[in-house]
Amino acid sequence: MSPSTSPAKVSDEQRAREEELVELVVASFDGAPDERTRHLLQALVRHLHAYVREVRLTEAEWGAAIAFLTRVGHTTTESRQEFVLLSDVLGLSMQTVAVNNEAYRNATEATVFGPFFVDEAPQVEQGGDIAAGAPGEPAWVEGTVRDVDGNPLPGARIEVWEADEEGLYDVQHDDGRTYGRGRLVADDDGGYRFWGLFPTPYPIPDDGPVGDLLASTGRSPLRASHLHFMVSAPGCRTLVTHIFVRGDELLERDSVFGVKESLVHDWEHHPAGSPTPDGRDLGGRGWASTRFDVVLAPA
Ligand SMILES: [Fe+2]
Repeated sequence: MSPSTSPAKVSDEQRAREEELVELVVASFDGAPDERTRHLLQALVRHLHAYVREVRLTEAEWGAAIAFLTRVGHTTTESRQEFVLLSDVLGLSMQTVAVNNEAYRNATEATVFGPFFVDEAPQVEQGGDIAAGAPGEPAWVEGTVRDVDGNPLPGARIEVWEADEEGLYDVQHDDGRTYGRGRLVADDDGGYRFWGLFPTPYPIPDDGPVGDLLASTGRSPLRASHLHFMVSAPGCRTLVTHIFVRGDELLERDSVFGVKESLVHDWEHHPAGSPTPDGRDLGGRGWASTRFDVVLAPA
């Protein structure tokens, strides 16, 4: 007989036994000196027990879950965080981003940070090229940084990073190269502009237990094409976000649930030989362009 999913099928006596255990475990944390720790653990216990009771978890399933988490732990190294990946594919990372970046008027929406940010990216002048030799279609990106009242934020720090056309970040190559990333400072009008690459989709690392989970449930490891931004200015909430590409077929099934409609942008493709906004000679190549106006919430 398959386990029931309906708590209604549990007898009164059984329900009482299960609830008694929940309360016993919750009460075991009553003496925790730190109030926040107590709250976190007691709520965790209630939700975990509710899950086990709702799905009527079998002992074999409990064992499989422990074995899976053990593999996640063994796969995690200095340079590979399989627990974060698990959080990502369960939407837990994105939900945490949502909770910590409450909607505020017209402020730009946040999304996942991801594992490929580097602290000291090269400083790039206005109109400079963050691609720095990374292969891909050149893309002109421009916009402004403003507060929610529309005041420009001169001096705002804009950090951008993205994968090359193979879907790899510089740090995924083992030769120490730096490309596809840079930091800019907004000009006196809050404006910014730079050359980057038209974004390319890429898979999250899928050769470990999280990849197995995706494969066994018919889910793709691919992320929708995106360009990462982190924008900060004094007195404002730092924004970590991406912009996506309208028309990308992966928008509906981004493996980490990072897509927000407000972050999906129109990108124009300009044929080979078209004049560029800053007169840059692209050697006859085509190029793309988009605009991203950033609005920062108050801190
Ligand atoms: Fe990314």
